[in-house]
Amino acid sequence: MPSTSLRAGLATSTLLLALAAAPPAVAAEESILGIYVFHRHGDRTSKSFPPTLLTALGAEQAYASGEYFRQRYVAANASSRVFNVASDIAVLPQVAVTTPVDNVLQGTANFFTQSLYPPAGAAAKQTLANGTVMEAPFDGYQYIPVNVVSTAASSSGSENNGWLQGGSGCNNAIISSNNYFSSSDYLETLNSTGAFYKSLLPVINSTFPTAKDSYKNAYTIFDYIHVSQIHNASIPNADLLTKETLFQVQTRADQHEYGLAYNVSEPVRAIAGSVLAGQILQSLNTTARAAPLSKSTARLSLQFGAYGTFMSFFGLANMTAVSPDFAGIVDYASSMVFELVTNSSIANATEALDPSELSVRFLFANGSAGLVGGLTEYPLFGQSETVLPWTTFTDEMNKFSIRNTVSWCNACGNNTGVCDPELLGTGPSTSNSNATGSSSSSSGNGSSGGVSRPVAGVIGALVTLAVLLGLEALVMLIGGLRVVKKNVAVAGKAASNSA
Ligand SMILES: *[C@@H]1O[C@H](CO)[C@@H](O)[C@H](O)[C@H]1NC(C)=O
Ligand SMILES: *[C@@H]1O[C@H](CO)[C@@H](O)[C@H](O)[C@H]1NC(C)=O
Ligand SMILES: *[C@@H]1O[C@H](CO)[C@@H](O)[C@H](O)[C@H]1NC(C)=O
Ligand SMILES: *[C@@H]1O[C@H](CO)[C@@H](O)[C@H](O)[C@H]1NC(C)=O
Ligand SMILES: *[C@@H]1O[C@H](CO)[C@@H](O)[C@H](O)[C@H]1NC(C)=O
Ligand SMILES: *[C@@H]1O[C@H](CO)[C@@H](O)[C@H](O)[C@H]1NC(C)=O
Ligand SMILES: *[C@@H]1O[C@H](CO)[C@@H](O)[C@H](O)[C@H]1NC(C)=O
Ligand SMILES: *[C@@H]1O[C@H](CO)[C@@H](O)[C@H](O)[C@H]1NC(C)=O
Ligand SMILES: *[C@@H]1O[C@H](CO)[C@@H](O)[C@H](O)[C@H]1NC(C)=O
Ligand SMILES: *[C@@H]1O[C@H](CO)[C@@H](O)[C@H](O)[C@H]1NC(C)=O
Ligand SMILES: *[C@@H]1O[C@H](CO)[C@@H](O)[C@H](O)[C@H]1NC(C)=O
Ligand SMILES: *[C@@H]1O[C@H](CO)[C@@H](O)[C@H](O)[C@H]1NC(C)=O
Repeated sequence: MPSTSLRAGLATSTLLLALAAAPPAVAAEESILGIYVFHRHGDRTSKSFPPTLLTALGAEQAYASGEYFRQRYVAANASSRVFNVASDIAVLPQVAVTTPVDNVLQGTANFFTQSLYPPAGAAAKQTLANGTVMEAPFDGYQYIPVNVVSTAASSSGSENNGWLQGGSGCNNAIISSNNYFSSSDYLETLNSTGAFYKSLLPVINSTFPTAKDSYKNAYTIFDYIHVSQIHNASIPNADLLTKETLFQVQTRADQHEYGLAYNVSEPVRAIAGSVLAGQILQSLNTTARAAPLSKSTARLSLQFGAYGTFMSFFGLANMTAVSPDFAGIVDYASSMVFELVTNSSIANATEALDPSELSVRFLFANGSAGLVGGLTEYPLFGQSETVLPWTTFTDEMNKFSIRNTVSWCNACGNNTGVCDPELLGTGPSTSNSNATGSSSSSSGNGSSGGVSRPVAGVIGALVTLAVLLGLEALVMLIGGLRVVKKNVAVAGKAASNSA
């Protein structure tokens, strides 16, 4: 009994896959100065049986995605080669990779980087003073640092966290997500799907007791069934899992998770998307301010994270105006990309370009880009163009981005730990520290821009907690952003995509 509210992610793969077939229209004279990528982990084991692990299939999905990115952005003959980026032997300052403390995400990042910059073989040979020629093990293997960022709330047990905001540590976001459980959408769905979930019990009763067999656990039930479909050849009462049933299991999970990740009237619920937006701005800004000829600027910035962050960002960036499919859980190894592009001649550019010469293109692949036909352009913010002038892009992102600790603490209503006013240098509790997540708290903060001296002090303190890549990572740390939850993808589709 799929209801109309299900519009959400269903058919996700179908539509996105169809769109993905369209060839990218890139002008010949256009140059890409850098990219920012947010990437989901590959196929993994069920969250019902911790520890959750990346599977061989998931590793292959990550590897295939990295290969796609290499062929598009990095290789000497790449179709949209990033200007001035090293093609075969990685120049480490050009590549910035981050993940939270999570073995599935870290493994995904490692397989991805291994195909992004494969073993260099003879090209990486070095000659010692005494004339002996050395080659690194594994055919000149290259190890790209994958920087780990722990969350402020140190809830690194993400895989066991059954609930979207559990790992964020953002008080108002947790309260807001909890509000979903008293919304009419939730209560009505809980009621109307009672019989549906009851009918599934024979399939899941070895793991889910009757009391947990309801829409309340839509995600974990979906995850269990989805993983079983991919990995377990003997699912009890599998005959109950018809196409329609699987479709509803998945779309109910989409509906449930989107409800926890985003709500137009409570932007703080999408805190993960706000912090990601701040990181994207910070990273692209750094690239934009560097001379195109600079060899040491980060040009390939990659962050690995959870589907919940995709959902929060898609909600904030109004991607559901493009298609309701953007309200669905993205498939394993999905990626979204922000390309910083220009049509100016930069062959000899030793100085940064004027912001008026810059633009940003958004692309997304639902599933491993190397296995689903590549990336597809989509318009951000409910606009019609897929390439936006830099100033338009930054103005829109600033409406919801969170870029520093004070802003995060204000939006979240936190005032202990890293948000202790004394530590922040903001004095006794700020007046809006009890904010309940009104849109003004996050949007106002977004435009506040740079890092104040007191905040810099906090950053200093936090840097000792993890290997960081500047403010970007700091924000991530504070945001605890990565909702540690790993997730699942579109049920049957994901399986067929990756098979
Ligand atoms: C680029 O070169 C590699 C080998 O160096 C080759 O396998 C690949 O097909 C080439 N790609 C394109 C788009 O020509
Ligand atoms: C050259 O130096 C390396 C490293 O110290 C050593 O392993 C190798 O045996 C030396 N080769 C010769 C010919 O001395
Ligand atoms: C924010 O406040 C909540 C509730 O008090 C707490 O659980 C969480 O750990 C705090 N987050 C941080 C980063 O201190
Ligand atoms: C579910 O909805 C039906 C019809 O609206 C109503 O009669 C019933 O009492 C509801 N059940 C619960 C448990 O709320
Ligand atoms: C699960 O349901 C099946 C079919 O109703 C039943 O045969 C089986 O005993 C149940 N298993 C458990 C653990 O309750
Ligand atoms: C498949 O599912 C059955 C029933 O839940 C379980 O007993 C079995 O261990 C599972 N096998 C695998 C490979 O996960
Ligand atoms: C957003 O939250 C408000 C208030 O909690 C609620 O009334 C509304 O139904 C929610 N919107 C959606 C689409 O869930
Ligand atoms: C980058 O950010 C700084 C500080 O917020 C700002 O002054 C500068 O104009 C930004 N650069 C671009 C190209 O937008
Ligand atoms: C570059 O010019 C081409 C052709 O006019 C246009 O399609 C493309 O959108 C431009 N790119 C940027 C970044 O302005
Ligand atoms: C870049 O500089 C070189 C050498 O100075 C010159 O030959 C070339 O024409 C310049 N290219 C552009 C696009 O200005
Ligand atoms: C999203 O974009 C659509 C189409 O431009 C617009 O009508 C709608 O108001 C936007 N929604 C939000 C929340 O900005
Ligand atoms: C914040 O909440 C606390 C406890 O609920 C209350 O005592 C305090 O007055 C509130 N502060 C503001 C500024 O609303």
